[in-house]
Amino acid sequence: MSKLAHLNLASPLVLAPLAGYSDLPFRLLCKEFGAGLCVSEMISCHGLVYNQKKTIAMLASVPEERPVSFQLFGADPYMMAKATDILNGFGPDMIDINMGCPVKKVTKKGAGAALMATPRLAQEIIQEVVGQSDVPVSVKFRKGVDSQSITCLDFAKMAEDAGAAVLTVHGRTWSQGFSGFSDWNCIAEVKRAVSLPVIGNGDITSYDQALEKLGLAQCDAVMVGRGALGNPWVFSHMGRPNDIYSILKGVIRHLDLMKQHLEVERLLAMVKNHIGRYFKNLKGSSKLRRQVYESNSFTSLYAMISEIAGN
Ligand SMILES: Cc1cc2nc3c(=O)[nH]c(=O)nc-3n(C[C@H](O)[C@H](O)[C@H](O)COP(=O)(O)O)c2cc1C
Repeated sequence: MSKLAHLNLASPLVLAPLAGYSDLPFRLLCKEFGAGLCVSEMISCHGLVYNQKKTIAMLASVPEERPVSFQLFGADPYMMAKATDILNGFGPDMIDINMGCPVKKVTKKGAGAALMATPRLAQEIIQEVVGQSDVPVSVKFRKGVDSQSITCLDFAKMAEDAGAAVLTVHGRTWSQGFSGFSDWNCIAEVKRAVSLPVIGNGDITSYDQALEKLGLAQCDAVMVGRGALGNPWVFSHMGRPNDIYSILKGVIRHLDLMKQHLEVERLLAMVKNHIGRYFKNLKGSSKLRRQVYESNSFTSLYAMISEIAGN
């Protein structure tokens, strides 16, 4: 059990927001495998306000996936407030603000991790989103801007004063991107510096490691990103199985959820995004991986995997 603001989580392990991955089927899968909370892909405030079809499709949700957090990104406080107002209508359990994404497409517009370099603007955005939101708001940010500017403690206090209810800290700087290691000591420092629940994030690849980091940083929950790709077992105390048949069972469950919840046009592309990852580092799986990538229909791919799994 873990408490994050108003939410009582059945597990302290949280699925990270992952653009291109943490869609409804993957969130449902991770929930089934034990995740206590799942965060959506980042959702553009402009896409929401301008009612773009692709953005609206990202808000698909079902009651079984609850609790779910929807993540917003943007750098314009007015647009972020308007987008929050629209998000309220979709009934998320929490709204998260992305202040940690280092991808150029996002930061060149001043959003994501670039907001760590403009804390006054970040503060205004948090205040606007908190002011509009029907549910508690979390803020996801990084250790700092770069090695010369480790600002997470000031940033955390700023976010707390601006009304955030939960903080998520990824222990790398903006300039590090995904290189080096996540600094869990700095996550522990943030936890000690604020009175809000803190979610620690970075480099977790197994359930046991998640519990170890939770203890190390004395934080309230831990978030798993890359370690969950092709590996929803990371959320289960049983861990990842090492036989191909058990792995294929997980793959089939994922495919079933995709089939149930994704539009037909997106199906094959999403399958290819996810499924090859299940076989990474699995002995004798290179042929299978090639077959997945070369497959040109969902139905034939599903049939092939079912046959190997002996279903
Ligand atoms: C493919 C990919 C997509 C991501 N998309 C988002 C996103 O939409 N929003 C966000 O705040 N962070 C995003 N991140 C960052 C992750 O949420 C997480 O903070 C980071 O990967 C570190 O955690 P990990 O070491 O467990 O992967 C993304 C990372 C990856 C690898």
